[in-house]
Amino acid sequence: YELQVESMTFDQGSYAHYMLKEIEEQPNVVCGLAREYMNMHGQIELPLHLSEQLANASRIAIVACGTSYHAGLVGKELFERLARIPVTVHYASEFNYYTPLIEDGTLFIFISQSGETADSIAALKKCRANDWPTLALVNVKHSTMAKLADDVLLLHAGTEVAVASTKAYVAQVTLLSLIAGSLGRLSGMYETFDMTKQLAIVQYVMYEAFQMQSLIRQTANQFVDAKNVFILGRGLDYAIAQEAALKIKEVTYIQAEAYPSGELKHGPIALIEDETPVIAIISNKRTADQVRSNIAEVEARGARVYVLASEGLEQPTDWLTLPATHPLFAPLAMIVPLQLLSYEIAQAKGLDVDKPRNLAKSVTVE
Ligand code: G6P
Repeated sequence: YELQVESMTFDQGSYAHYMLKEIEEQPNVVCGLAREYMNMHGQIELPLHLSEQLANASRIAIVACGTSYHAGLVGKELFERLARIPVTVHYASEFNYYTPLIEDGTLFIFISQSGETADSIAALKKCRANDWPTLALVNVKHSTMAKLADDVLLLHAGTEVAVASTKAYVAQVTLLSLIAGSLGRLSGMYETFDMTKQLAIVQYVMYEAFQMQSLIRQTANQFVDAKNVFILGRGLDYAIAQEAALKIKEVTYIQAEAYPSGELKHGPIALIEDETPVIAIISNKRTADQVRSNIAEVEARGARVYVLASEGLEQPTDWLTLPATHPLFAPLAMIVPLQLLSYEIAQAKGLDVDKPRNLAKSVTVE
């Protein structure tokens, strides 16, 4: 596998909608970040002033909103697995109104596409007031958060126009993996991990997902009349489910609820009726059998189940099978067909996919 390079364009070009264009730019975003933050020997090089605080961080607290928060959930797993640093993830709007117990040696990572989200800015100011070190991961170079944080790494995703975030999420998760990888290297945890190869596989799987668009379009027609949908997964697959549920809510107006599949039996299964659509994500061998058994439970109650599985874990009746990535990178690949599904459902319903009702690209009130 080699990273494929293509240049990004910034107008809508031949695409009917920005959302689709931005979904299709995602392989380039992965490659662009690898080029930006890795040297020709495949080593991660981050241009940071805070490198000492980062290297010595005993804990990391991630603060963000919306899709950026969901990237943070993936970041937690990446930092804990690649660098063995404990991580907490906070909604900025919650962080502002309680007093977290912050240990010495905690580094704050703020994630924001726009760098202008009011809740995240307020949280960043709170950190500054307490002298807690802050690193911002933002897409907009001259944004308020870029200016306020002690240090900044840019997402280099190019301008994201569609209100529902897609390529910024991929950029955030990719950059978090590079930061986690660099910390893992410092602590000796990361030696056997070939980051360039793993990212190249991600890119390849994204292109494979694009090939499935017409099949996904057919599936989308089955969601047109749906009032609600459940999205299930365990571990990182649950983090993917949360971002997928947000995409579906944002652009299709279907009530989409992500659930860790094992928790379903503790309440939500009461909502499963005949024909309730349920999407299940299976990318991890360790939990595949358990998720399958949760699927059997909802099927027995009449649910229509759509399984998105990684190759090697698929069954003949599954909806889609994608080539496998390293399990830690499943969010980067598995989110793509679910973004496309959201897009296609919105198309089938005749909705304005780039500017969904009631939503703003950047929310500047608390
Ligand atoms: C709004 C947008 C979302 C975005 C969230 C956080 O709700 O509609 O797409 O994820 O804000 O935005 P940020 O710019 O801070 O990542």
